[in-house]
Amino acid sequence: MIADEKQKRQSAPIGVFDSGMGGISVLRELVKVMPHEDFIYFGDSVNAPYGTKPTDQIRELTIRHVENLMKEGAKGIVVACNTATSAAVAVLRKMYPKLPLVGIEPAIKPAAVERPGARIVVMATPMTIRQEKFCRLMARYEDKIHIVPLPCPGLMEFVERGDLDGEDLQEYLTKLLSQVDGEPIDGIVLGCTHYPFVREMIQSIVGNSVTIYDGGPGTAREMKRRLGESDLLNKKQEKGTVKFYNSRNTEEEIQLCRSLFLHGK
Ligand code: DGL
Repeated sequence: MIADEKQKRQSAPIGVFDSGMGGISVLRELVKVMPHEDFIYFGDSVNAPYGTKPTDQIRELTIRHVENLMKEGAKGIVVACNTATSAAVAVLRKMYPKLPLVGIEPAIKPAAVERPGARIVVMATPMTIRQEKFCRLMARYEDKIHIVPLPCPGLMEFVERGDLDGEDLQEYLTKLLSQVDGEPIDGIVLGCTHYPFVREMIQSIVGNSVTIYDGGPGTAREMKRRLGESDLLNKKQEKGTVKFYNSRNTEEEIQLCRSLFLHGK
């Protein structure tokens, strides 16, 4: 690549995709590890939730939105949605072998490395838990930790509404977590990118002795590594920018994106 072209590619934005607002939890981690990069975030709230849809439909939607981000000039893509990753990332890698592409998956590995022998609940969408990719991931760590999958239909909708601490949410989570019977649990993996936004509420219900794992920070570090490997990191010294787009293109939706991005800061 000639020098000018290379520099242009390095200054291009990173595309981040999710079915809605959840991927903003990953975007926050991306900005922490790559503060000089520009980001374009796209959330498909019109078609959310993805987690209760058939695989083919999720794959088709994900490919379409990732291709749109590429048309917008993205130099690399983060699929900041566990559900979309299980349905579409393998196909996308075949379609675009040169594209730096990172998909998030439930952080079972860090839990297994940190807490061998532990009893770990994996909270995720019904679709993520049904997928072969998840079964393979579980099988890989089954001899190290005891994994309890917990499908959470309806949970992402609280975040999509911007409800992160209401009474209905408390009631929903208390009922959901009471379904985990048997021995006490040691940890919870947040296997959906919407769930880090309700992390405090989950922690308050299960207590501080339970460790919560989020795949966002590892995904962000992996994207940085992949861009570095391809010499695509932005060399500028100024702080990068973040642009939000949503298929439900209303001012309220974009405002909610911004407030989730700043949540707890
Ligand atoms: N945020 C998505 C994930 O990480 C799923 C939410 C949905 O059901 O669309 O799995």
